[in-house]
Amino acid sequence: MTSDSGAAGWQGWDVYAPFYDWENRRTIGRRDVRFWTDLARRADGPVLELGCGTGRLSVPVARVAPRFVGIDRSAPMLRRLRSRLRRARLTAKSAIVRGDIRALPFRRRWRCRLVMAPYGMLQSLLSDADLAATLEAVAGVLPRGGTLGIDLVPELPRWQEYHRRVGLRGPASGGRRVTLIESVRQVREHALTVFDQEFVEWHGSRRTVHRFSLAFRTLTVPQVAERLEQAGFRVDAVLGDYAGEEWSPDAQVWIIVARRI
Ligand SMILES: C[S@@+](CC[C@H](N)C(=O)[O-])C[C@H]1O[C@@H](n2cnc3c(N)ncnc32)[C@H](O)[C@@H]1O
Repeated sequence: MTSDSGAAGWQGWDVYAPFYDWENRRTIGRRDVRFWTDLARRADGPVLELGCGTGRLSVPVARVAPRFVGIDRSAPMLRRLRSRLRRARLTAKSAIVRGDIRALPFRRRWRCRLVMAPYGMLQSLLSDADLAATLEAVAGVLPRGGTLGIDLVPELPRWQEYHRRVGLRGPASGGRRVTLIESVRQVREHALTVFDQEFVEWHGSRRTVHRFSLAFRTLTVPQVAERLEQAGFRVDAVLGDYAGEEWSPDAQVWIIVARRI
């Protein structure tokens, strides 16, 4: 399944990679780090992060987990993560895999204790078939009792549509200045939100424009819970924030903690 712009959920991230940390320092920041490091400590075993990206969460989680494995389809995102892990001296206990979460490329007997799907990661799956394939792959690497943590970004369908608005602007590393010009479209019949992004980078008087689209599909918590049960998971908790507050449909964050049965 692709969005109406033709983009599949895994596309766009390669071009986004040089700007991902710049933007997310100004948005999610470190708000969810404590939640995931606590879950990793409690899991007391190897941790797999789906869509680990540039390692915003991978590095702190790899510090507390006995073994960390991250998978992502985007090579430019993973290049950033690899150098972060090297700088943090965490390469010996970490493995980074370039691959697609819909078909996890691990040995048949490999198992972990926690699979993390943070920061809307599963919303990059644009169809039920992709979600079902991913949950089946996850069930294959978790033993009974193993944990799957999912963080959904609920605000996406509520996002107002607009065309070419300046979203963010500011200094970036290496003396650059960056402006994000963003358009948002809702494709309600497919529960999709599509962001058309244009990052304009100024280095002195040299101007470079980087364009890409990202598409996300947002299901409700009951819909995700139903898919989880069909895939052999039991929902243990649904939280409405990173401090463990109870979930409600208008919560700012939707976190589902499920167990493989
Ligand atoms: C929102 S970012 C999350 C990055 C990181 N986990 C964080 O919390 O900052 C989503 C990541 O998922 C990756 N991704 C999207 N679809 C994927 C797929 N089908 N298989 C593997 N990775 C995928 C993207 O390349 C991107 O790095």
